Amino acid sequence: MSKPLAGIKIIDFTHVQAGPACTQMLAWFGADVIKVERPGSGDVTRSQLRDIPDVDALYFTMLNSNKKSLTLDTKKPEGKEVLEKLIRESDVLVENFGPGALDRMGFTWERINELNPKMIVASVKGFSDGHHYEDLKVYENVAQCAGGAASTTGFWDGPPTVSSAALGDTNTGMHLAIGILTALIGRGKTGKGQKVAVSMQDSVLNLCRVKLRDQQRLDRIGYLEEYPQYPHGKFTDVVPRGGNAGGGGQPGWVLKCKGWETDPNAYIYFTIQGHAWAPICKALGKEEWIEDKAYNTATARQDKIFDIFAVIEEWLKDKTKFEAVDILRKFDIPCSPVMSMKEIAADPSLRASGTITEVDHKERGKYLTVGSPIKFSDTTVEITGSPLLGEHTDEVLASLGYNPEQVAALHSAQAV
Ligand code: COA
Repeated sequence: MSKPLAGIKIIDFTHVQAGPACTQMLAWFGADVIKVERPGSGDVTRSQLRDIPDVDALYFTMLNSNKKSLTLDTKKPEGKEVLEKLIRESDVLVENFGPGALDRMGFTWERINELNPKMIVASVKGFSDGHHYEDLKVYENVAQCAGGAASTTGFWDGPPTVSSAALGDTNTGMHLAIGILTALIGRGKTGKGQKVAVSMQDSVLNLCRVKLRDQQRLDRIGYLEEYPQYPHGKFTDVVPRGGNAGGGGQPGWVLKCKGWETDPNAYIYFTIQGHAWAPICKALGKEEWIEDKAYNTATARQDKIFDIFAVIEEWLKDKTKFEAVDILRKFDIPCSPVMSMKEIAADPSLRASGTITEVDHKERGKYLTVGSPIKFSDTTVEITGSPLLGEHTDEVLASLGYNPEQVAALHSAQAV
């Protein structure tokens, strides 16, 4: 069966992570994604953090699978001409250059719209248009700080902390993918393209909305009952860092299991979901707590939540994280082992579902990557290796109508 996005042609003018994550996902689902890269060097991630000399780094290969690579110097007139031809034939142009770079190249929204009124132009920037920081270049952790994630992550006695999850980069790319698909559906109705803009700050904030919820609760009542600071600690007028506390109405914490002294990941996340209180007590052998008024409501438990966690840790001390979860799952308790990357790489379920998948690369050989987290009933997502720099240049030029002599001329002008 042909893939859902087959026939959609995307000019992938992206680099590093935020943009490439977006276009990679669209390529997985069948779009024809042509990555446009600067001749000679290409996407900077090809050479960042290399583990094999002179071979594309994993940073690049894991974000650029299923794409074609076209080298093009879009500052040279010959390169601009190729890009113009591509724009006329494509559906979407995705870019995440620094502010103003596309305009400086001569490809303003107005110009692109003139070349192809059906074109969707999708951009990632650090801050949204008109924002007082709109001129800033932005990377992952900058966005996490700007979007409210860092001030609310970590422990109350430590500094603001960034997450290792790419809330600024890949998350923004996923927002952009939703925007592009929406614009494509819109175009089906109006026949017109449009500009789609996503900022990294906004995308991080979109994931931090419960913290804005908490700010408003704090402003109104002066405390946040699900935070470790309640009821014994102090609140100021800003949402504090809550350590590993659950962000919703379910208290939870990271708890030590057997071996924590030597294994930095010998922990589980344990959630005390209200309706699971009786099963929790049964699992712990603390049946007397089930009806005890000092324990049997969330409010009653709140002032002794860390004593309860201490009892659970006592129960956990002769169980590995996997043994503990195998017992707790039978009691319907929401919990998980804290998984290391090594364990994730070898996890049989993640392998079976294709979420962790092995891919072949022409120079590197086999490598692991994260496959599609989205599963379809009638579409199989096959992940193919990332392209070498300029691997598809001649093929793309031929498809644009360039004959071999013209292609050779573009090469000798170093425009491709
Ligand atoms: N041919 C010719 N020139 C090219 C080119 C090509 N194929 N591809 C890129 N360039 C040029 C750009 O036109 C730009 O030139 P100019 O500044 O002289 O106008 C130049 O390369 C640098 O581009 P820029 O995107 O500003 O790169 P950078 O390395 O200085 O900054 C970022 C990197 C990521 C900080 C910046 O791109 C950015 O802030 N992007 C938006 C936010 C974002 O996506 N950040 C996260 C990335 S994971």
